[in-house]
Amino acid sequence: MTDTELMQLAKKARGNAYAPYSKFAVGAALLCSDMSIYMGCNIENASYGATMCAERVALYQAIANGKSSFVKIAVCGGVNYTDVECPPCGICRQVLREFCTDDFRVVLQNVDQIISYKIDELLPLSFQKNMLEK
Ligand code: THU
Repeated sequence: MTDTELMQLAKKARGNAYAPYSKFAVGAALLCSDMSIYMGCNIENASYGATMCAERVALYQAIANGKSSFVKIAVCGGVNYTDVECPPCGICRQVLREFCTDDFRVVLQNVDQIISYKIDELLPLSFQKNMLEK
């Protein structure tokens, strides 16, 4: 599964976004190590605070289905469905860090190119679960 193919699935998932408040639709597609794919979109709420980002919808769905090893996630988002790069929010970076290995990639797109980042590039000096182990 290439970055481009995964991004295509993220764009498809973005079509299901429920974003009546921000009008900022986001899609995500997560590739697991067993080659299964989980998609997510942002789901907003009138309370605003109950909003869930596309990345976490995809990841939590995968985890709820027993997946525990992940390769990469593609994320796309933008006002009026244009292709602007949509870097994951801070909470999603921390959640990805919890479940992903150091070689996990976050695939993003802007107007003319697809770029992938290591999680450590997006969340340097991160607080991690191994710090809690004795
Ligand atoms: N959003 C995501 O789905 N993922 C991100 O990483 C950034 C923000 C959503 C949340 C909200 O529904 C909308 O984009 C505007 O913040």
